[in-house]
Amino acid sequence: MDKLLLTGGRPLHGAVPISGAKNAALPVMAATLLAPGVHRLRNVPRLRDTRTFAKVLELLGAKVSFDGNLCSIDSTGVNSVEAPYELVKTMRASIYVLAPLLARFGAARVSLPGGCAWGPRPVNLHLAGLQAMGAVLDIDHGYIVGRNVKLKGATFGFDVVSVGATAQLMMAAVLAEGTTVLENVAVEPDVTALGDVLVACGARIEGLGTRRLAIRGVTALRPIDTTIIPDRIEAATFAAAAAMTGGCVKLERVVPAHFEAALRKLEEAGSAIERAVDSVTVTGPARPKAVNVVTQPFPGFPTDMQAQMIAVCAIAGGTSVIEDTVYLDRFTHVPELARMGANIELKGNVAVVQGVERLSGAQVMATDLRASASLVLAGLAAQGETLIDRIYHLDRGYEALEQKFGALGARIQRVY
Ligand code: UD1
Repeated sequence: MDKLLLTGGRPLHGAVPISGAKNAALPVMAATLLAPGVHRLRNVPRLRDTRTFAKVLELLGAKVSFDGNLCSIDSTGVNSVEAPYELVKTMRASIYVLAPLLARFGAARVSLPGGCAWGPRPVNLHLAGLQAMGAVLDIDHGYIVGRNVKLKGATFGFDVVSVGATAQLMMAAVLAEGTTVLENVAVEPDVTALGDVLVACGARIEGLGTRRLAIRGVTALRPIDTTIIPDRIEAATFAAAAAMTGGCVKLERVVPAHFEAALRKLEEAGSAIERAVDSVTVTGPARPKAVNVVTQPFPGFPTDMQAQMIAVCAIAGGTSVIEDTVYLDRFTHVPELARMGANIELKGNVAVVQGVERLSGAQVMATDLRASASLVLAGLAAQGETLIDRIYHLDRGYEALEQKFGALGARIQRVY
């Protein structure tokens, strides 16, 4: 199994091109099912998750090809409505095919994703919203099954802000009969970008970027031709690396407003940050200062940066308190960071981090995507060697991670 070997203690310097966002690419890949035809998606990151999503689409009968970061999807011949457990269990985002299948074929058989390393992660809002739109859905042997579904406009309010359920219901509503009003929707850039893509294909969506969407169903959409937005979490992770190593890193091809909450926290922790139109330069302090963080839906501090921020706080001067209000169990990195000398006390969904002068390299295990990223950051700042096992998690979400860190001067290599 692949491992990453890092020798820490070198400040990172240079420029890093940020890839397209995985979490923006996946719903757009699903949306190609809405309109039969040949779709072109540029800036799709070369990641295991985008490849897994391609497999889901191929199983449904689509033709998918990759040429570098260009992904072409011909969804004309889609002839199956089944997304099997074997794929959905490896990638929850496969659930995104549910609404497009119901919208286009009136039928779907999509495996329930089940839990994940950090909690139950329900899909009740996806189902309740589709049911409000007239879909009769059964749970049958672990599958969500819909037959003879005719989606109709409805008003649906989310009691919890959900990225996935918002994207799911947007895809249902664009081809539904009548108008759908969605209240308390997610406004993460990935969701708004999906809306922009759908509008460019002929969808009628009002309120994009606000908490209330009004979607007037149309009878057909044109194929997608788009460029995936930059990955704000990848960008923020590299920003945190600059902050932790006392380096200076220019993040290229980014939308600074998409990760402003993370930038502000790094500033509060002592980094100097220069924002330009499509780049951000982060200069880290000699030692970060302690900061308190509460994760929130966008535009708040993202839960997908909680683990990396704990790594920053692990070497900060003082005590930091980090609370995850989005995912209460998402702390599998804490015991691994402790193996590197971090002093973290976990009380429910709150981590109290007493900063130490230095972390020390150790053998650690990656447990999920962002937890793995926090171990990489810790390894870059630690004294000595860190060996991270099970890095297939990183391959799900960070394109060319070791090449990008290597180009910034990190000593990092993949070992087999
Ligand atoms: C997406 C991101 C993930 C990120 C998360 C929160 C993708 C592929 N993944 O995941 O990286 O960490 O947003 O920013 O884009 N909830 C329910 N019922 C539901 C759905 C969600 O109660 O039906 C709850 C969840 O348990 C959680 C909260 O809503 O507490 C937010 O989850 P959600 O935004 O749906 O996360 P995902 O879309 O799965």
